[in-house]
Amino acid sequence: MSNDQNKQKFEILGELTAVVAHELKNPLGTIRNSLFLMQNRLNEEYVVDEKIDEILSRIFRNIDRCNNIVNDLLDFTRHTKLIKRRINISQLIDKVLEDLVKPSSIQINNDVSPNLHLNIDPDRMHRVFLNILKNSIEAIMDPEVGKGAGYVNITSSITDQHTIISIYDNGPGIDTSSSEQLFEPLISTKSFGIGLGLSIVQDIMKKHNGCATLSGELDKYAQVDLKFNKKM
Ligand SMILES: Nc1ncnc2c1ncn2[C@@H]1O[C@H](COP(=O)(O)OP(=O)(O)O)[C@@H](O)[C@H]1O
Ligand SMILES: [Mg+2]
Repeated sequence: MSNDQNKQKFEILGELTAVVAHELKNPLGTIRNSLFLMQNRLNEEYVVDEKIDEILSRIFRNIDRCNNIVNDLLDFTRHTKLIKRRINISQLIDKVLEDLVKPSSIQINNDVSPNLHLNIDPDRMHRVFLNILKNSIEAIMDPEVGKGAGYVNITSSITDQHTIISIYDNGPGIDTSSSEQLFEPLISTKSFGIGLGLSIVQDIMKKHNGCATLSGELDKYAQVDLKFNKKM
């Protein structure tokens, strides 16, 4: 196959992925809403049944997993331009934390300077923080290597040329020598992950003329640094 044919094939595959992901979003939403109504109805009727509760939460959990995959695929295939505005970063992170489903055993501290403003696309950066924080939570809660409890600290610092936002967690950590690789698409160590989260993060950071790096130490910590050029 010629290079042109190959390129065309990948473009079609990308479009197909975007269309399928988009088409799956509505039925998934309908299933979730219907299940929610059913759960309410059962509560109204005072049906108390542990088995039914367990089954319902298993269905909810799996719908959420499908939703995450669909959102990752949509983000991965998105080509829209950034719509940048001057945004208060600490407030943006507070909004992300409201959207985040997390167990009470994990404490997340937003210590970003309350005055820090950056010229960014708030929707896209919302996704960046969500993907990184989800990774921290999933790492801490990992049944094999996670401790099931821990903390995440989000901080900011300013150098001559850069503004850096760091997301640190004391989960199972990462081996720094493999950290570059984790930004590649389809690299995942999870049984349920498809490995697009960090590659989406890097793509959005590059579109902001910045970059993301991952560092850490096994059994100690993992840290993502989001580095923005001061002249953005
Ligand atoms: N905070 C973290 N602690 C430990 N490992 C991490 C952390 N963040 C990312 N990773 C590693 O990077 C891999 C890739 O992450 P990502 O691109 O978001 O894909 P996914 O979450 O679908 O596996 C993860 O599977 C995990 O092995
Ligand atoms: Mg992820």
